[in-house]
Amino acid sequence: MENSLFASLTLEEKLYWYHYFIWMEFSYSEDDFQQNFPLELPSSRRRWNLIREAKDFAKNVHSIAKAQLLEHLSSEDLFLLSPSPDVSKHEYYNFEYLTRDWSNSDAHQQRKTITEFIENQLQSISIDPSEKALFIGCGNGRYAVDFAHRYEKVVACDKSLMMIWTTLYLKRLKTWDICHQITRNCRTVEDSIQRETVEMSEDLSRKIDEKVEFMIGDVSKINMDDCSFQHIYSIYFTDVLPLKVLWKQIDRLLTDQGLFIHFGPLEYFFSNELEMLTAEEICDFFVDKEYTILANSFLETPHLFMKNSMRHRFYDNWFFIAQKNQTSEVSIDTSFAVHSDSEVLKLHKMKQGESTEEWSINNGNIDYELPEIIADILCVMDGKKSLRDLLAIQGFDELANEQELVSVFKELYAKRLITIRNGN
Ligand SMILES: C[S@@+](CC[C@H](N)C(=O)[O-])C[C@H]1O[C@@H](n2cnc3c(N)ncnc32)[C@H](O)[C@@H]1O
Repeated sequence: MENSLFASLTLEEKLYWYHYFIWMEFSYSEDDFQQNFPLELPSSRRRWNLIREAKDFAKNVHSIAKAQLLEHLSSEDLFLLSPSPDVSKHEYYNFEYLTRDWSNSDAHQQRKTITEFIENQLQSISIDPSEKALFIGCGNGRYAVDFAHRYEKVVACDKSLMMIWTTLYLKRLKTWDICHQITRNCRTVEDSIQRETVEMSEDLSRKIDEKVEFMIGDVSKINMDDCSFQHIYSIYFTDVLPLKVLWKQIDRLLTDQGLFIHFGPLEYFFSNELEMLTAEEICDFFVDKEYTILANSFLETPHLFMKNSMRHRFYDNWFFIAQKNQTSEVSIDTSFAVHSDSEVLKLHKMKQGESTEEWSINNGNIDYELPEIIADILCVMDGKKSLRDLLAIQGFDELANEQELVSVFKELYAKRLITIRNGN
């Protein structure tokens, strides 16, 4: 099971991960904490023993993975380990996502809430089951498995070998007692270690066999064929890479009319603040690329809740779906209606002592300022008469530039403020 994962790696990747495992074994073995123990309290001794147990567990897990990987390396290959990879790039694997994804303790509540929310949203906008989906930065993969029932095939990709390896290792074990260290925010000494049982049912295991292909890889470098997926899910991942990097892959890999489905915060794990786009900017970016916004809302959940810690995060997660190339069908002969979630608003404002009227269309998430003439058209749209008919009937003659008019309606349609189908 895990063997096929290692077999799929290039020699360079195998060497990288082999070095990673050696480094992790070494890191978890260090015992200087014990030598430099700050307090000779019995409770502190107990804490050290628990921390040592968690470190030994992590070390042992890395040793098991290393031994499996070694079977895929010859002694000639190992000579190539010099010079060794840069250890500063080695990221520690912690068991938090494994716990959230595969335990039935409190930690899984976040996942359950999110899965139910996304499933309901997909159903409410009539997103039907489809052929192929890609989950980028899939982590321990539970979302890919939970949504696999919607697809003939799912590809779940993550850069971290440990994320996917631990899921496949659990698949073989079926149940696995894990533990990990809680370093800060512990109420009691016993809280310094979190013990969990993670498990994978026969049903979910079969689903993986039938539908899910796990893949180690950097999303920015995936070289699968263009137009390979109907849907791409980015759950807690859109903020990992700058949008301009992510976008290239999304647009290339999605089929025509394909969906980009985002769920999660915009925490941003890189340093260039100019790339730290707001939800509004990401939305505008997709509209600018002729995508249509099918969903745009928020859901608050705890994040990676650990009962042993005094700290955990809450995110007001952004849920966003954009559909590729939908606006290409919009023309002067399209019939529009105001979306049932939207409202055309007229505001009376005082400017330099004079009363003026300002128009906008608002759906609770987006407030779009309208030129009066567009607002006038919106007020008479009925989902049946085309823009051309309305212009003729209402005598909106001053709208000379047809192209400009169509592009405003394209944008309103892309932002789902108006619809082609009456009231939907
Ligand atoms: C915040 S976690 C979210 C994991 C998962 N989507 C979930 O919600 O459980 C982000 C994941 O992205 C992965 N990752 C980071 N950079 C990546 C990249 N360039 N390509 C693929 N995966 C990446 C990390 O290994 C990690 O598993």
